[in-house]
Amino acid sequence: MTVDQPDTERRALITGGTAGIGAAFARRLAADGWHLVLVARDADRLAEMAAELTGRHARTVETIPADLSTDDGCATVERRLAAEPSVELLVNNAGISLNKPFLRSSVEDEARLLRLNVHAVMRLTLAALRPMTERRRGAVINVSSVAGFGAVMPGSTYSASKAWVTNFSESVGQSTRPFGVRVMALCPGYTRTEFHDRAGINMSKTPGWMWLRADDVVDEALRDLRKGKLVSVPAWKYKLAVAGLRHAPRRLLDVVSRDTRGRIGREDG
Ligand SMILES: NC(=O)c1ccc[n+]([C@@H]2O[C@H](COP(=O)([O-])OP(=O)(O)OC[C@H]3O[C@@H](n4cnc5c(N)ncnc54)[C@H](OP(=O)(O)O)[C@@H]3O)[C@@H](O)[C@H]2O)c1
Repeated sequence: MTVDQPDTERRALITGGTAGIGAAFARRLAADGWHLVLVARDADRLAEMAAELTGRHARTVETIPADLSTDDGCATVERRLAAEPSVELLVNNAGISLNKPFLRSSVEDEARLLRLNVHAVMRLTLAALRPMTERRRGAVINVSSVAGFGAVMPGSTYSASKAWVTNFSESVGQSTRPFGVRVMALCPGYTRTEFHDRAGINMSKTPGWMWLRADDVVDEALRDLRKGKLVSVPAWKYKLAVAGLRHAPRRLLDVVSRDTRGRIGREDG
C-alpha cells in the first residue's frame, strides 16, 4: 500500500483540516477514498467538517481538537500518530502569519508563530516518520510557502519560518527515500482562504491574478507527491517567481520587496 495505489484502508491526518488549504486536502482525500484524522482548535468546526465528509463520502473521520502551538496539543497528536489504525499520509498544514513587523512584535506572538509553523511541524514529522519508515510506506506533506524562498517581506518572521519548513522537508525527504517514505514541502503562493483575514492583513490591493484556488493547490501537490518531488510549487506564475527569488540579483530583490515593506509598515499601525 503506497500513496500511489488506491486502498480502502488508507488514512491521512491533516492539521488545520477545517479551513482553507487543509479543508481542500480533506475534501479531496475523502473523495479519493481516504479515511481521515482532522486536527484543529475549534471542536465545533471539526465536528461540522466530519459530518460533511462522512455524509458525502462514507469514510471515517476522527477529530482531534488540539492547539498545536502548545506542548500538550502536539503530544496529543503525536500519540495518535503512534497508534493504530496507522496513518499513511500526514499533512502538516496548520500555520499562521502575523500582521506586525518584527520591531513592533512581542516575544509571545513570535514564539506562538514559531511553535506552530516550525516546532509542531518538526514534532509531528518525527512522530509520523518512525512508524512509516518501519512499515516502509507513507508520506508527509509539510505546507510551506513561496515566501520561504526569500526575505520578501522585510520584518516578517513568517518567511523565515517557511524557509525552515522547506529546507527541513527537503533534507528529511532525502533521508527517508531509501525507506520508500516521501516527505515533500508544498510551497503555495497567495491562496484564497481565511489566512490573511485571521492575521488581520489587508490584501485588498493584491491583484486577482495572483490568487490561487485551494483545490488547485491540493491537486498539484498530490500530483507532485506521486512524482516523488521534494518541493512542490503550484502554478507556473509562482514557479517563475521562485526562479526569480533563487537567481535574481539581491539588489533587484531589495527594490521589489520595498513595496511590501511599505505595506506592512502602513497597515499594522
Ligand atoms: N493562504 C495563503 O495565501 C497561503 C500561502 C502560502 C502558504 N500558506 C500556508 O498554508 C497553510 C494553511 O493556511 P490556510 O491559508 O489554509 O489558513 P486558514 O484558512 O487560516 O486555515 C488555518 C487552519 O489551521 C487551523 N489552525 C490555526 N491555528 C492552529 C493551532 N494553533 N493549532 C491547530 N490548528 C490551528 C485552523 O483551525 P482552528 O482555528 O480551529 O484551529 C484552520 O483549520 C499554512 O501553513 C499557511 O502558512 C497559505
